Amino acid sequence: MTNIYSPHIQNFKIAKDLITRWELVVFPTETVYWLWANALDQDAVRKIFKTKNRPADNPLIVHLALKSDIKKYAIISHSLQKLIINKLMPWPITIVLPKRSIIPDIVTAWSPMVAIRLPQNDIAQDFLKIVNLPIVAPSANLSTQASPTSADMVYKSLGSRVPMIIDWWICDFGIESTVVMIPDDKHIKILRPWIITKQDLQELCPQDVKISFAQKPSEHSPGNKYKHYSPQAQVFLFSNIQDILSYDQSSQKIWLIATQEFISTNFKSLSNLVNLTIYDRWTKSNLVTCAQNLFQLYHQCDQDKIDIILIQSLPPRWIWYSIMNRVRKSLSNPKLF
Ligand code: TXA
Ligand code: MG
Repeated sequence: MTNIYSPHIQNFKIAKDLITRWELVVFPTETVYWLWANALDQDAVRKIFKTKNRPADNPLIVHLALKSDIKKYAIISHSLQKLIINKLMPWPITIVLPKRSIIPDIVTAWSPMVAIRLPQNDIAQDFLKIVNLPIVAPSANLSTQASPTSADMVYKSLGSRVPMIIDWWICDFGIESTVVMIPDDKHIKILRPWIITKQDLQELCPQDVKISFAQKPSEHSPGNKYKHYSPQAQVFLFSNIQDILSYDQSSQKIWLIATQEFISTNFKSLSNLVNLTIYDRWTKSNLVTCAQNLFQLYHQCDQDKIDIILIQSLPPRWIWYSIMNRVRKSLSNPKLF
């Protein structure tokens, strides 16, 4: 694998040079691996859309190193926006704000709003400081594929399309940032849920602030209407052991993803099913590992040519809400959720 490099300062210099020559490079962050380009350069941004086969109406997040840079590219007008920025950035949270004209329209898909994120990961922070530019960076996968959480996953998806992938083990969190919009001092709308949950935001804000989820998938965030995070296998949710028994009649290769609690309770029935591979690393005690494992697991299923993935349906509370949000986007039959 000749285009995978270590996160060494020399390689950062090569990456900077590539970016100034309109090439795309891949870096790790705390959430997923991302594909970088200069946000102020329309040709480079166009190349991102082309490389990923990304629909032009799906806007990109602009990444910055410093809080003090936000006002160069967006307008902060409410105290609630300031509070969220001061308390939660840098961290896996993205805030959608009115954009300044310096941000090209292609970045925001012609929306007057721009999404801003400050990554917390050291490599991403160091490189942002070295290039000293706002960077558009979607997840480093082809559109509709699962977001990559290791350099190896990136290589399999985009390896032939990018000259440089910086390798840095597996991302800490494994699914993308929480995206929020704060229209006034009393409301927060969660456009994409993840590790910073509704409860976390509620605890941080004054009591009279109302926090809600975007109602329709596309509300305020066009990207949400597209199918995402899909492995090649068909994905179904199940609730109980009867659901699983009904799937095991064919000769198809099936993977079962369930909590350890479910597997130990139903071990006897499950061990009779010959076509079933059991994946049991979901535990209630480590929700971040569950999330981190989800995309890894989808990639593994693609590699092993799995036909069907059965995923346990979990109560939509706390981070389970975010994990189920990602699972739901990959379902073959959303009605089963
Ligand atoms: O953790 C993350 O957020 C990762 C890392 C690489 O930072 N990025 C990421 O980017 O997941 P991407 O392009 O895969 O997803 C960006 C999401 C999409 O759902 C898009 O619709 C939404 O953010 N978004 C971007 N700009 C927006 C805007 N101006 N208004 C509303 N939603 C926006
Ligand atoms: Mg993505």
